[in-house]
Amino acid sequence: MRVLVIGSGGREHTLVWKLRQSPRVQEVYCAPGNAGIAQIAHCVEIPADKIDKLVEFAREQEIELTVVGPEAPLAAGIVDAFQAAGLPIFGPNKAAAQLEASKVFAKEIMQKYKIPTAHSRTFTDAKEALAYLEEKGAPIVVKADGLAAGKGVVVAQTIAEAQEAIEQIMVQQVFGQAGARVVIEEFLTGEEVSVLAFTDGETVIPMVSSQDHKAAYDHDQGPNTGGMGAYSPAPVLTPALLKQVEKEILKPTIEGLRAEGIVFQGVLYAGLMITEAGPKVLEYNVRFGDPECQVVLPRLQSDLVEIMLSVVNRKLHEQKIEWYDNHTACVVMASGGYPGDYRTGIEIDGLKEAGALQDTYVFHAGTALQEEKFVTAGGRVLGVTAWANTLEAALEKAYTAVKLIQFTGAHYRTDIGQKALNRREK
Ligand code: AMP
Ligand code: GLY
Repeated sequence: MRVLVIGSGGREHTLVWKLRQSPRVQEVYCAPGNAGIAQIAHCVEIPADKIDKLVEFAREQEIELTVVGPEAPLAAGIVDAFQAAGLPIFGPNKAAAQLEASKVFAKEIMQKYKIPTAHSRTFTDAKEALAYLEEKGAPIVVKADGLAAGKGVVVAQTIAEAQEAIEQIMVQQVFGQAGARVVIEEFLTGEEVSVLAFTDGETVIPMVSSQDHKAAYDHDQGPNTGGMGAYSPAPVLTPALLKQVEKEILKPTIEGLRAEGIVFQGVLYAGLMITEAGPKVLEYNVRFGDPECQVVLPRLQSDLVEIMLSVVNRKLHEQKIEWYDNHTACVVMASGGYPGDYRTGIEIDGLKEAGALQDTYVFHAGTALQEEKFVTAGGRVLGVTAWANTLEAALEKAYTAVKLIQFTGAHYRTDIGQKALNRREK
């Protein structure tokens, strides 16, 4: 089988790596990919947003399964375009992708189908939004409706911060149309966990749990990033809680969408806060998380191609999905300055040494080749991932690999997985 993966980050490197393990796969292409992906797949120079070009490529190359990594092409309707061309593709269509592309839409679904989430109100008028802030007080959370590359959410500790967010999003329109509507919601406290599930619009099968680390620095300090590391499983999600999440969140979401005439096929990602009143949805994503993908897929024992085809063909109920009973950890190495401005083109040393370690894999997130040397090409550069029988051992392996890798300005968190270890001590 000939497979195409769309995207260029650590998530897509992981997808390519896992898909290649299937005995059914002969060739893997990645558009546009990165320097790490190029070591194990054919990279094609088509950006992820050039949907017509991707359809043309898939048709010419007789691609039998296309897998979409990032949200932007999903929200732009890449799945609808492939389906119209009769090409099998894994991911939700444009209507289903609204769950991530519009926070207002997501909130409406949650309210209508009684899915637990923060209380909220939607505003199209800045004055009304500001009046509501006065009424509610801080802390409070302000969210731009549309996709804003992970920057559209402001968790405001003071009213002034929240007012500034309204000013930026609604008045200055720093995210353009994505900020035409704003959701203001109650601040929730608890521990965050990500639950990803395969679904074909009817059957929902959760994957093993994982926890991202969104803040840039240790102890959850500093600005939010795309994710600085992850581990799996996340002990905060006990088997009983997972059952509850399945029953109160995942299934009602998929059934609610179906009642609206929307069939969700792909990966549904629920970003949850485990509050004292139970799990509540912070956000939905409509794809694998990055770096959650790096810790979840290495634990998958079943054939990913089989699973994805059963989702595409709406036969997920026939599929058995098995996982290794191990632990994984991923430490993201980022460019100096990330998530703010950073330089690229900096040479990376030690990849070979780190790559030679057992039960370790260095997923590339933002790299390029320059004169046959790996250089940095993005904010998040590498996702150094390891697996073992315990979380401690997985972390030790991952950090051993991290210490072998150097590039000027590199920064990473040294406390990945610490929450899980602390929880156990308690
Ligand atoms: P989102 O993109 O909606 O998941 O928001 C990004 C991050 O902001 C989340 O991972 C949380 O850490 C935080 N966040 C979002 N909504 C809330 C909320 N209602 N209460 C507390 N923190 C939140
Ligand atoms: N790691 C969070 C995300 O992929 O959105």
